[in-house]
Amino acid sequence: MPQNDDFWDFYWETRLQPMENLGKREAILAASGLIRRLAAQGDRPLRLLELGCGEGQIIGTLLDAHSQLCDIRTSVGVDYNAQSLAHCRRDYPGLQCVKGDFTDPDLLEELGKFEVVLLVNALHEVFSASFSPELQEIDIPAAKQHVEQALAGAAGCLKPGGWVVLFDGLEPPGDPGQSLRICFRDDAIREDFETFARQYHPLRITYREAGDPLRVELSQRDFTRYITKSIFLRKKLWKTEQLESYQYFTEKEHRAAFARQGLKISELRTLTVNDGKWRRLVKIDTPGVKFPEEHILILAQKKEQV
Ligand SMILES: C[S@@+](CC[C@H](N)C(=O)[O-])C[C@H]1O[C@@H](n2cnc3c(N)ncnc32)[C@H](O)[C@@H]1O
Repeated sequence: MPQNDDFWDFYWETRLQPMENLGKREAILAASGLIRRLAAQGDRPLRLLELGCGEGQIIGTLLDAHSQLCDIRTSVGVDYNAQSLAHCRRDYPGLQCVKGDFTDPDLLEELGKFEVVLLVNALHEVFSASFSPELQEIDIPAAKQHVEQALAGAAGCLKPGGWVVLFDGLEPPGDPGQSLRICFRDDAIREDFETFARQYHPLRITYREAGDPLRVELSQRDFTRYITKSIFLRKKLWKTEQLESYQYFTEKEHRAAFARQGLKISELRTLTVNDGKWRRLVKIDTPGVKFPEEHILILAQKKEQV
């Protein structure tokens, strides 16, 4: 009996319960819908590729769900982290796990072509890797170029008419230097902010006192980093999270980069997942300024002939 949308709504509701508060749940739901649509149009099982697959939570979960629509044996996860890949191999036997750098064109060349390429929370790590020891910050123009090259590599892995599913952080629109005033909920949160400002590595965080000990003024750019990273403070993950900028492209830059790679966007959504957590930390005093949307989800198709 064919499984309809109601079946899948129920399946994912149950299966994704542990990811309830994680944005990447949206990536899995969108990719599942896409896989079902593609499978209905074609007669061969689909090949999936995930670049930066980590422990396989995305590609493995999708292949588990859609084992009749996808070919697990020819689907591939790539990651350069041996430990994560070992987890992936253990949890999803059958999936090809390739250890290597997905920004390496020679590595991608060897993988062949795929119907779907998944880029979930991966490109911001390419951006963050362009830290310049001279600048003591990410070299932003070079970093953006590396992201675009990685996107080009992903597009190059697609069969004609194949699809990219991207889910990642989002730089808010407007002037990143625009100043805003925030008020911490209490002294402990203010102390955490100072720890964040001292330890955050990708960019120098600067701020000014703003009248009383619980208020500071900082740029929109630094505020966005603070709220998206502060949730990891004092957690084990902080060690790696403090090295990364989750933001790299605005929505406009994403659109432009996809267009340059011959990828036609059919769905683009921006979303906020952690708004509730941020509100418990700070209040924005500056009128008219809102908490930013922190994630972007894009489904895009490679043009048949570029
Ligand atoms: C935040 S994790 C996301 C993992 C997985 N996509 C998920 O959402 O569960 C990012 C992964 O990308 C990998 N990664 C980042 N840059 C990479 C590169 N240039 N080549 C290979 N792997 C990379 C990291 O090792 C990490 O496992």
